[in-house]
Amino acid sequence: MATVATTQTMAKFVEGIRDVFASTGDPREQAQRVAAHMQEALKVPGWLEEAINLPPAEGYGRVDLHQDEEYGHPGPGFLLMCSIQHPGQDNWPHDHGSSWVVYGVYEGAIEQVKWGWVYDQGKWTTPHLERYQDYVENPGDVAFFLPGEIHNTRNITEGRSVVVRVEGQELSRVPRHRYNPETGEASLY
Ligand SMILES: [Fe+2]
Repeated sequence: MATVATTQTMAKFVEGIRDVFASTGDPREQAQRVAAHMQEALKVPGWLEEAINLPPAEGYGRVDLHQDEEYGHPGPGFLLMCSIQHPGQDNWPHDHGSSWVVYGVYEGAIEQVKWGWVYDQGKWTTPHLERYQDYVENPGDVAFFLPGEIHNTRNITEGRSVVVRVEGQELSRVPRHRYNPETGEASLY
């Protein structure tokens, strides 16, 4: 049985996100307002453990918490999910297609690295990927990536990291690219 705190926190969070989609179609405003709701949810102790139903230090993978069929960035439908990551778990630089994604850390810490296409002066047909920013998200920290932005993540703790994400559109429905930062080569996934 879920406690009142868990049920209420989840319901309030989902309702807050739905309200955002109901009132604006602008991706930056959507992401900013969803990030504010996530910040509030992350302050509530204990609600997520129960929602994801995992023992405190074991269990990895993803748990979908709410898939919305009515509201989504420019179409169906947003996904609230949780990713439980192994120590050192990382991924290739990637974008999220037309979607934005909000990342909040509940437990552990992840490094975020941002990449951009750079065209050297006069070389307008030979862009390369450049790492231009990195930062760490600790428990309670929230960050987001707007449509088209490229990033990769890494769990920098010795234990698991528990990351709450809102995908403006459920990402498996969105064509996205994954990049080799050495060669700039992209592949659809
Ligand atoms: Fe991502």
